[in-house]
Amino acid sequence: CGIVGYTGSKNAVDVLLDGLSSLEYRGYDSAGISVVCGEKLTTIKTKGRLQNLADLIKEQGKPQCHCGIGHTRWATHGEPSDLNAHPHVTEKLSLVHNGIIENYQQIKGKLLSQGYEFSSQTDTECAAKLIDSLYSGDPMDTIRKAISQMEGSYAFGIVFADHPDKIYAVRQGSPLIVAKGEGENFIASDVPAILKYTRQYYLIEEKEIAEVSAQEINIYSPEGEKVQKPLLTASWTVEQAQKGGYDHFMLKEIYEQPRALRDTVHPRISDGLPSFEMDDVPEGFFKRFEKISIVACGTAMHAGMLGKALIEKLARIPVETDIASEFRYRNPIMDKTTLVIVISQSGETADTLAALRLAKQHGVTTLAIVNVTGSSIAREADYIIHTYAGPEIAVASTKAYSVQLSVMYMIAIKMALAKQEITTNQARELTSSLMHAIETTEKSILLDEQIKAYIKRYENLNDLFFLGRGLDYALGLEGSLKLKEISYIHCEAYAAGELKHGTISLITDGVPVVALATQEILLPKMVSNIREVRSRGADVLLICKKGMRIDRDVYGEKLELPAIDDLFMPIVGVIPLQLIAYHTAVLRGCDVDKPRNLAKSVTVE
Ligand code: G6P
Repeated sequence: CGIVGYTGSKNAVDVLLDGLSSLEYRGYDSAGISVVCGEKLTTIKTKGRLQNLADLIKEQGKPQCHCGIGHTRWATHGEPSDLNAHPHVTEKLSLVHNGIIENYQQIKGKLLSQGYEFSSQTDTECAAKLIDSLYSGDPMDTIRKAISQMEGSYAFGIVFADHPDKIYAVRQGSPLIVAKGEGENFIASDVPAILKYTRQYYLIEEKEIAEVSAQEINIYSPEGEKVQKPLLTASWTVEQAQKGGYDHFMLKEIYEQPRALRDTVHPRISDGLPSFEMDDVPEGFFKRFEKISIVACGTAMHAGMLGKALIEKLARIPVETDIASEFRYRNPIMDKTTLVIVISQSGETADTLAALRLAKQHGVTTLAIVNVTGSSIAREADYIIHTYAGPEIAVASTKAYSVQLSVMYMIAIKMALAKQEITTNQARELTSSLMHAIETTEKSILLDEQIKAYIKRYENLNDLFFLGRGLDYALGLEGSLKLKEISYIHCEAYAAGELKHGTISLITDGVPVVALATQEILLPKMVSNIREVRSRGADVLLICKKGMRIDRDVYGEKLELPAIDDLFMPIVGVIPLQLIAYHTAVLRGCDVDKPRNLAKSVTVE
């Protein structure tokens, strides 16, 4: 979910709608605003996209107020509906919330016995009514009391009818910033919401409470002491967070990959070798570890799977890859010789953050690969390698994946060198191959038209299979996830050699298969596997490396990737897979940037 709040001289409704439009990627089941003027709260909220809210506001007449809060929701407790939409309002206050109040049933029970009635199924309504029940006229005091009774995660934005010019904000576990403008101030769950107005902001720490008026920002510690914080400047620009002439953010972000990769890798090359000096990772760091655990969710986890293959191949150190929500509950084996690497675009994914905390509790060294500066994961990990993808707005991750992958290559090379598995010269050659792969992504993007023409046949598709071996298998998982996410086609990625052990029963006449064959050494086996599906009628799109010799009867159509060293093929190989998903989703009339049921940053477990 996304939160924004405004107090200043502009019309609050305009600023809130504008801020929410930059946050819609965080959830789009429903949206709402509350504004306060003359001690009167006006709330407008509705199910569905932000446009529905904008239409409703137009219909009802735009309130002329200068202070308010807004929310865009990704449903957790309670279906997407007008009633369950935020803000949640009482006579005294209005509140927006990200996160989950875990003990809300207990709070609700207490409030019911005090005579409160509930109209929604949300945990948020309980929070609003709890604060209402405790309200003494002093917002700070009341909020402090209320949060002492709540368990779970939250970022709240609150306005009180009798404090019409102020917004209050508090967080635990969910991100929140307070942004400073000229004679106007803001609260927001993420930086893009405020970029149009200011780039200066404060990060709110756990349980700190912010009191924000147009002229003043006061932030208090959980104990009630005023705290002085550094004013930060967002490195992202407003242009980066806009579509810039593309039809969708996703397409823009796919096209941005060469730039994002250069920005992430180039500053970390020194004397022809990867260097994490700018990240304050000490020289010799990678020598210390005997085992690595890579933990992440979704697309980031797929980057981790490739990371495992690369590190094991080059550095000969065992690497485990885990989905964060599984890692947490399987009592993972870790000790002082283990390095836990967490990967996250947003730096806020609840399960990944919890996995990081678990590793820290075990006294294990943690390294985070994160795209959002100042995010929770970036702040809590022992070491951070920032990726420079810039703001990723489309819900389906593309450029963030590529830059995460590029960091995995750098770590693998660095570690292999530290473990003396390769010589300095070999490390330089590998680094130069990485740089070359990055430049070659420009050529992958040129395949766009060919892909667009090919996927016309996918318009009415129900199922599709990706097949690959080795690095291509991990890549196929990502290609398959992209297609599922945004085009809603059922899709599976299989290790090509495994298909015959069950799933091949699903291959019948005309079933589309995307066969990835970028690895020379695995080619003969891969070709046999493709023949197995071809002979059962599969419609095979072969994605291979330019110059590979493959008999014409093996495939239906062929897409040739620019030829580079096998080890680096995933860098150029992922782009066509992203483009397949993109064009298929466009063709099928799907909402590419905001696929159903999803949210960009999942801050619930
Ligand atoms: C959500 C997004 C995915 C993303 C995953 C992990 O589910 O929809 O695209 O891969 O979270 O996000 P993170 O920000 O931790 O990389």
